[in-house]
Amino acid sequence: MLKDIQEVLFDEKKIDQIVTKMGRQIADDYRGKELLLVGILKGANVFMADLMRKINIPVKLDFMAVSSYGMSTESSGVVRILKDLDHSVEDKHILIVEDIVDTGLTLHYLMDNLKSRGAISIAACTLLDKPERRKVDVDIHYSGTEIPDVFIVGYGIDYGEKYRNLPYIAALKPEVYVK
Ligand code: IMP
Repeated sequence: MLKDIQEVLFDEKKIDQIVTKMGRQIADDYRGKELLLVGILKGANVFMADLMRKINIPVKLDFMAVSSYGMSTESSGVVRILKDLDHSVEDKHILIVEDIVDTGLTLHYLMDNLKSRGAISIAACTLLDKPERRKVDVDIHYSGTEIPDVFIVGYGIDYGEKYRNLPYIAALKPEVYVK
């Protein structure tokens, strides 16, 4: 696995600093409100686990799974729900928790989809943001850090289901995915 890594972009300490800051800000903004964190599987799984422990107000959790790139590094633009929420979002404040916003197509679809379900408010939070790659405008309320147009793995994020268990965020060597 390590031979496929080009460069570590964020180590565990740096990730912790970013996530801690995001958690504090979210807690400040939602204090006194009923907050539902909606994690987008599978990529946001590790981020969600860390982020929720940095939010020191009561929160509830739910998850959605949407179609990913599969074995590709390009978004198809077609978003499919593989697993829907378990609970109703009516009368709740929703915060979507994403790993990366790239073209923005997935988040755009999710915001639209959840808006129709009667939540009081919907906002989005992402650990990583690749603004150069954006195809549609999306409002990101909490963004951990911007990254350039490189394909990354680790900290829950995969390529072809591999590398999710790396504790850091790293750029993958292009020869691994450019055939
Ligand atoms: P978007 O719809 O193009 O914004 O893509 C969002 C999803 O694509 C993310 O939630 C990730 O699952 C995946 N993705 C985007 N960039 C990368 C990357 O660099 N490595 C791995 N997955 C990525």
